[in-house]
Amino acid sequence: MKNTILTLQQRKLNQEKITMLTAYDYTTARLMDESGVDCLLVGDSLGMVMLGYQSTVSVTMEDMIHHSKAVARAAKTAFVVTDLPFMSYHTSAYDAVYNAGRLIQEGQAQAVKLEGGQAFCEHIQLITQASIPVIAHIGLMPQSVLALGGYKVQGKDYNDAKKIVLDALAVEQAGAAAILLECVPAELAKLISELVSIPTIGIGAGVGCDGQVLVYQDMLSMYAGVSSKFVKSFAPIGEQMKQAFKDYCAEVKQQQFPSANHEFAIDSDVMAKIKSEFFISHQG
Ligand code: KIV
Repeated sequence: MKNTILTLQQRKLNQEKITMLTAYDYTTARLMDESGVDCLLVGDSLGMVMLGYQSTVSVTMEDMIHHSKAVARAAKTAFVVTDLPFMSYHTSAYDAVYNAGRLIQEGQAQAVKLEGGQAFCEHIQLITQASIPVIAHIGLMPQSVLALGGYKVQGKDYNDAKKIVLDALAVEQAGAAAILLECVPAELAKLISELVSIPTIGIGAGVGCDGQVLVYQDMLSMYAGVSSKFVKSFAPIGEQMKQAFKDYCAEVKQQQFPSANHEFAIDSDVMAKIKSEFFISHQG
């Protein structure tokens, strides 16, 4: 059965943790879907981990739609959420609804995520009114990296912590279906998770959230960029991939690959005829 926004709400009610991972391509999304991951996030982090940009601000709607479609094709059970990229909703609430609609219609997503709290409540309200579930991403908002001057833990002092709580309450009031909390102190995230009735999904926000998300290249040690304290490596796949690529190069150079097992045979009479026609006449 396909997971929906109701599955996430039910998980919170049942006090079962929600599992979410980022996904950007068909093959990986299929492996995650078959592994029972509840929810696949086509995050704009694809700008960094798939496209090699320094931040997420260069990601376009076309990038998001392209990757979202691939993930949606693989997600037989998992719920698919796709990020609204930088400048696709900041310009107006109209643009927010229009671009959220594109992610649903063209990207085949089941929900959209946008970065913003109190300042984006009108956007959240209008997207929700268009029957599109919205996940509000608060705390550290990577699309604001230029204004923030870097990726830092948010909500450590009183004013900042209070603002994040108010953001959470405001987006819930505006109709957000869930909240993503990034890089906030664990106790603050736990308090927010208790205060709101919608599910919270944390990254760098401690165990008190209703669910967790990680960028899959981080959890598999595949990404060479900066790693955060909150990332856990679940398997050294990056190293294993490098070793496999090295082994392939060595075997090709030493003519160990392809071996006879990897070759296709041809009838000897056919080959003799071809040789006599081309090789021998060419020699002569
Ligand atoms: O774009 C992304 O990958 C995110 C992370 C918080 C998971 O939003």
